[in-house]
Amino acid sequence: MYKIIDGKKLASELRLNLKNRIGEYIKERGEIGLAVILVGEDPASAVYVRNKIKACEEVGIKSSVYYLPEQTAQKDVEELVTSLADNNKIHGILVQLPLPSHINAKKVLELIPVGKDVDGFSAENIGKLCLNEECSVACTPYGVIKMLESEKIDVKGKRAVILGRSEIVGKPMSMLLLNADATVTVCHSKTRGLKEICREADILIAAVGKAKFVTADMVKQDAVVIDVGINRDENGKMCGDVDFENVKDKCSYITPVPGGVGPMTITMLMYNTYNAAIRSGN
Ligand code: GUN
Repeated sequence: MYKIIDGKKLASELRLNLKNRIGEYIKERGEIGLAVILVGEDPASAVYVRNKIKACEEVGIKSSVYYLPEQTAQKDVEELVTSLADNNKIHGILVQLPLPSHINAKKVLELIPVGKDVDGFSAENIGKLCLNEECSVACTPYGVIKMLESEKIDVKGKRAVILGRSEIVGKPMSMLLLNADATVTVCHSKTRGLKEICREADILIAAVGKAKFVTADMVKQDAVVIDVGINRDENGKMCGDVDFENVKDKCSYITPVPGGVGPMTITMLMYNTYNAAIRSGN
């Protein structure tokens, strides 16, 4: 019998705990500030940003949101990031991705000081993650690790297979699992023998962005299946990268979509912002 890992419930428990810690911080050191920059009108990004603002309100972080029009020049985005970098009331800076195609995202992200990089996207934070040093960890993979920990799923010595090698999920996920002593395989669009590799996984993490990509024949009996996908099925209903209904009976644990990894991602952003404030000198 499988168990569903309830990300919504865990996220709300973690946020309550964080709210108390942030309350203590504010009494001693003042407000914690997170700046969020959204360029353009991508509807999915607008929803994510709204949810981030709501989460800030829930835990007591002061959010400042900068909505910039689609045509904003590179220079203007860079100037905004630079001014936030110099503002000691701002402890975290988040530039919502994707940026419009005329903007060089890498150049913008490089202006975020490592201490304010609450997404954990900077070369320095990724390098520290590889070295298993304290750092800001990309929110989605960090949330996945918290979900595994919450169920006391020991990954040591286990075979973990990650589907997807993105900078935001697949790559940092592989490092986190390796740091936790799992044996890690990262698969991607050029991987040969994908099904066979997946069938060896004790822990299978799907982050490919394709609706119901993981089918029952790709899953080992009693595997832990974590679904990072957010897609729409043929009827426009939200679904993950895993064919949940057909896969679930083979699993020991499985995460649903919605209500699985999604709520954890934003919770870990709140954690990263709190930790950035703790580490800051102000
Ligand atoms: N776009 C989709 N996911 C993310 C994320 O985790 N951080 C940022 N900044 N943009 C995103």
